Amino acid sequence: MHNLTLIKGDGIGPEISDAVLKIISAAGVDINWDIQTAGADVIEAEGVPLPQRVIDSVKRNKVALKSPVTTPIGKGFRSVNVQLRKELDLYANLRPCYNLPNVKTRYDGVDIVVVRENTEDLYAGIERQIDDDTAESIKRITRSASERIAKFAFDYAVKNNRKFVTVVTKANICKLSDGLFLDSARKIAADYYLPLKEILVDNCCMQLVQNPNQFDVLLLPNLYGDIVSDLCAGLIGGLGVAQGANIGKDYAVFEPVHGSAPDIAGQNKANPTAMLMSAIEMLNYIGENDAGQRIKSALFITLQDGIKTADLGGIASCTEFTNSIISRL
Ligand code: NAI
Repeated sequence: MHNLTLIKGDGIGPEISDAVLKIISAAGVDINWDIQTAGADVIEAEGVPLPQRVIDSVKRNKVALKSPVTTPIGKGFRSVNVQLRKELDLYANLRPCYNLPNVKTRYDGVDIVVVRENTEDLYAGIERQIDDDTAESIKRITRSASERIAKFAFDYAVKNNRKFVTVVTKANICKLSDGLFLDSARKIAADYYLPLKEILVDNCCMQLVQNPNQFDVLLLPNLYGDIVSDLCAGLIGGLGVAQGANIGKDYAVFEPVHGSAPDIAGQNKANPTAMLMSAIEMLNYIGENDAGQRIKSALFITLQDGIKTADLGGIASCTEFTNSIISRL
């Protein structure tokens, strides 16, 4: 029996987490879920969007599965996601991107792993309003955080038989901050036999849409990592299939790349694949590799059989898609 935290989120969060829990349970994995809520819905009762009980639960259980939480745009509370990553020091955001069976995309053979620094850069939330017409955000990059994420990327690459790491910056313009990130990657790379390649983020985006197969592991600071991982999600069929994980020294939170998709929330249209792929990685992480593999096979056969949600051009509802996976386990 595993004790794990589930952060249910909002928008499509509850629909896709119910779907994923149903599939994991049908696969016979014994999990005692500590279900936690966060975001706008809890503010009225608890005063904050990320109550301490959520952090305590992840600290207790060490591993969490999380669905998206809405962040107000341009006003309101700070992102629950960013806060959680900071509180638990989940410094590495890992987003493997590869083609799924029978999901039509522009390119075949895409196999890219995005490693994004998760704790600093413009996401540190250091902003100030200077006057009515001027605001500024501080882009904070430190050597310790940059070396730590570079080491994570290289360790991951070695462990997973990848061929090289490409560090992505804008060090020609942000000479000090991105320069420090680049310098840290070079320093760490010297300890590994795998090569480090270097590219500027604008060129990287162009190369990704023209020839994604030239890339292997991408190492990026927080903001570029956020943007480039959505770009990579677009290469493999969109946000509905893009998995992710936030990993630190002591804790790990597995969650899809996508947000709460308010435009389709509550309509039984959401694709649970991204959340399910994240959950499969979580199962591997807790040693349930066999169940993870069975669920992945059932998912792939379902897609192969042409059962797909609307975002992938199909007609299956979230419930129909979920039941189809369960029947193929
Ligand atoms: P989004 O990822 O929620 O949606 C972008 C588009 O992709 C929408 O058209 C949506 O319908 C579609 N989409 C996303 N996931 C899908 C799925 N599973 N199945 C089918 N279609 C899907 O991005 P958006 O609209 O920019 O953000 C909405 C909210 O989510 C914002 O408040 C944002 O801050 C938050 N957000 C939360 C994240 C998290 O909790 N980790 C990550 C990204 C955004």
